[in-house]
Amino acid sequence: MKTFVTAARWIAEAGRIVAFTGAGISVESGIPTFRGEGGLWSRYDPKVLELGYFYEEPEAAWRVIKELFYDTLTKAPAPNAAHRLLAELERAGKLIGVITQNIDGLHQKAGSRNVIEFHGTAKRLVCLACRKKVAFLSEMLEVLPPRCGCGGVLKPDFIFFGEGIGPENYQKSVAWLNEADLLLIVGTTGEVMPASMLPFEAKKARVIEINPEPTRYSEEKTDLFLQAKAGEAALALAKRLLLKL
Ligand code: APR
Repeated sequence: MKTFVTAARWIAEAGRIVAFTGAGISVESGIPTFRGEGGLWSRYDPKVLELGYFYEEPEAAWRVIKELFYDTLTKAPAPNAAHRLLAELERAGKLIGVITQNIDGLHQKAGSRNVIEFHGTAKRLVCLACRKKVAFLSEMLEVLPPRCGCGGVLKPDFIFFGEGIGPENYQKSVAWLNEADLLLIVGTTGEVMPASMLPFEAKKARVIEINPEPTRYSEEKTDLFLQAKAGEAALALAKRLLLKL
């Protein structure tokens, strides 16, 4: 448990924390990961998230995307202790913000305000024709593919494979990371570029990683590896930090 004692001390001492999160932080909220045991890509073909396929076969793509993401999202998953710890650290003025690869909106639901949704969000749809963005409502998926008032096909407003990521999110993330004195890497394999390069931008920060399994960061970047589930680790840390989650 020495590592948890040290991790809690590092968090207590830090004043400019940045969190970089992936699918693993939402597992204890009932949302599956992409990779690893039981991950979505072991059960579905990632091609459904390729931009070209979506343009060619919007209905077929949407049928799988609905199953992959929206059937879970419409059950309104709740944030877990890990999301709440990050929101609490922000409220305490210790956390600059969360850079998340997740599209589930759980950081905001937990109360985080400074969130960079690096891969966009499933909570908004965007029209391929007129580019209008609309908040997602479950009734929109009664007919697939969902269509905009202009008749265009609506796409989830998250990044597909082969889709460019606007420079603004990258630049804002790098600015946060350059300022950070502590980086928390939670629940990510670090396999998907360019997001996976972000932790290396944190030049001055000490790095705590929380994951039940080691990742590519564990050797190269992490200073303190907490081999644990995010929610469980958050509760243990909160206890030491006298934070109520
Ligand atoms: N707590 C913390 N981490 C966990 C937990 C848990 N309870 N359960 C699993 N993990 C870890 C796994 O060990 C793994 O390292 O979460 C990580 C999930 O990895 P991925 O499924 O690859 O998710 P992520 O790294 O976020 O994927 C990045 O890939 O498909 C794209 O756009 C998609 O944003 C996603 C990107």
